[in-house]
Amino acid sequence: MARIIDDVAEQGWSLQTQFIAPAMTAELAEECRKRAAAGLLVRAGVGRSALAVVSEGLRGDHIQWLEAGQHAACDQYLAVMDQLRQAFNQALYLGLEDFESHFALYPPGAFYKKHVDRFRDNDRRAVSVVFYLNEQWQAEQGGALRLHLADGTGHDVLPCAGSLLVFLSADMPHEVLPATRERLSLTGWLRRRDAGPL
Ligand code: OGA
Ligand code: MN
Repeated sequence: MARIIDDVAEQGWSLQTQFIAPAMTAELAEECRKRAAAGLLVRAGVGRSALAVVSEGLRGDHIQWLEAGQHAACDQYLAVMDQLRQAFNQALYLGLEDFESHFALYPPGAFYKKHVDRFRDNDRRAVSVVFYLNEQWQAEQGGALRLHLADGTGHDVLPCAGSLLVFLSADMPHEVLPATRERLSLTGWLRRRDAGPL
């Protein structure tokens, strides 16, 4: 945890490999696949809930929002994220109030074009947190999350099982490159209090 906070304070992002025990990561992956097979994951929209539109050209992932009390490993994940939330608040006074997260499944060939994780009409999302669930991912399979850093360079993160990527939502343009295999993750946001309409 401390390393994540230090990295984010220094450079705006942090990557931890083996963040969670492999057995729990495998359980989360299995749960994601199960939900996908049951038809519970839906094409992700762009923008906010009621106004969200499915945009073929921007993102091709299928998602389901996590809710507490449905599955033990998911609840454990949410508990760890709450610890991370508190650590950020104690060290950096970010005033993070809650965490929202969804399973995401990118079918082969799906991508998410360059974007920033903050809605035009709401700035609650402060810290983006992506946890990857893909065993034995190889670089040739594509599917990297590419961070577009302030110095103009790109940094590619492979979606390997156990890797946790954390970055400041407002400051980090990023994209998901297409892959030759299915790509699973838990993608979420630590959020500030709602300050009302801007
Ligand atoms: C997102 C996103 C990245 C990933 O859902 O906003 O950028 O690697 N996801 O899944
Ligand atoms: Mn994003």
